[in-house]
Amino acid sequence: MIVCHCMNITDKDIDNAIDWMRASDTRALITPGKVYRALGKSADCGGCMSLFLATMRKNENMEVPIELRTLRDTRIKEKRSCKATKKS
Ligand code: FES
Repeated sequence: MIVCHCMNITDKDIDNAIDWMRASDTRALITPGKVYRALGKSADCGGCMSLFLATMRKNENMEVPIELRTLRDTRIKEKRSCKATKKS
């Protein structure tokens, strides 16, 4: 199925690009821009972006690597401890 008509990108192209990026870097954060670049293309009108993202989310390699999932919690805890330090 064609996802991006401007650049003639199919759902298979997106899946292959994601699989390739995940295989080459297990910690990579994969974005639509990176998928376009991996395919040697760039977005034009942006009209496909919601379908593009939905297609990306279906890929099992789109999960955030487990070692990166706690980063937000860690940053929040660090900010809280910094505020506590400033008040005292
Ligand atoms: S349809 Fe994808 S950039 Fe236009």
